[in-house]
Amino acid sequence: MRILSGIQPSGTLHLGNYFGMMKPAIELQERGEAFYFIADLHALTTVRDPKALAANCHDVALDFLACGLDPKKSCFFRQSEVPGIADLAWILSALTPMGLLERCHSYKDKTTRGLTPTHGLFAYPVLMAADILIYESDLVPVGRDQKQHLEVTRDLVGKFNDAYGDILKMPEAHIQESTAVVPGLDGAKMSKSYHNTIGIFEEEKSLRKKIMGIKTDSTPVEEPKPTQGSTILDLYRLVAPPEEVARMEADFQNGGVGYGDFKKRLFEATLAHFAPFRARRAELAANDSTVLDILEAGARRAGDLAAKTLDKVRRAVGLR
Ligand code: TYM
Repeated sequence: MRILSGIQPSGTLHLGNYFGMMKPAIELQERGEAFYFIADLHALTTVRDPKALAANCHDVALDFLACGLDPKKSCFFRQSEVPGIADLAWILSALTPMGLLERCHSYKDKTTRGLTPTHGLFAYPVLMAADILIYESDLVPVGRDQKQHLEVTRDLVGKFNDAYGDILKMPEAHIQESTAVVPGLDGAKMSKSYHNTIGIFEEEKSLRKKIMGIKTDSTPVEEPKPTQGSTILDLYRLVAPPEEVARMEADFQNGGVGYGDFKKRLFEATLAHFAPFRARRAELAANDSTVLDILEAGARRAGDLAAKTLDKVRRAVGLR
């Protein structure tokens, strides 16, 4: 089984990225042949500062490796270092109906938020389909916000194969229900565009400030508190051991503990959860060449595979 996923280097990685995609992807590297990449071509749709883009790519590489991506088990690379992705995206574009892309929420969300409606932003799902299809991926671990893009990819496989024969492999999304939409500090989906994120490697001081600032209702300390829709509890479930989660749930239900205490527990559990990753990240950061070597070797391996698929596709459409 081949597993593939990508992450954009468009800002600091957060708990949504980690629990929604990185953790499931890291677990899946035990179950098949994994290909994980830094989607720098996609990030060009929003990042216009070349220095920031380069720095973000490096940070994403460090973050993903520190969180447990094992380069011995997974092929890890930068999207732009594999030739052929843009070629396949163009070939797919030629048979992508406008209506399919017009229906995509992510384009609508981004333009509603004020991003310039560029062709890159609009055609984003086609480039993503090319990523998935060029490596003949079976399974694509993603958060719920990418579900529609996987549906577009599957549609394009159907259209391509109908037109040219059984060439492209049909992929499937792998969405873990419990972490499909990780909430941010305000309870909405955690996203850098909503300014509600907790960074995986958030500094201790800033982490405390963010968590202590989570808005709560005005239930008095001694009263029971609603567990449904509590951001504190939802985040705590992700980072705390099960027995501590059960204790917090009981304290919510029984009353007698204030929100301040719950937030302190959440802060401490978050810090403890990511402490081993922090240590590993510091080690990796001290040796930059290791990271570059990993990405270079990854790009070579991914490139061999991509070239094979692209060759099949080019022959099928009549470009050979
Ligand atoms: P990106 O960079 O926006 O996000 C990376 C991954 O993190 C997941 N995610 C979340 N999951 C749960 N809750 C959240 N609050 C949350 N926030 C982010 C996203 O669902 C995603 O899986 N288009 C992709 C990158 C990409 C890609 C691909 C992915 C490019 N090509 C091919 C898979 C296959 C993106 O923008 O992800």
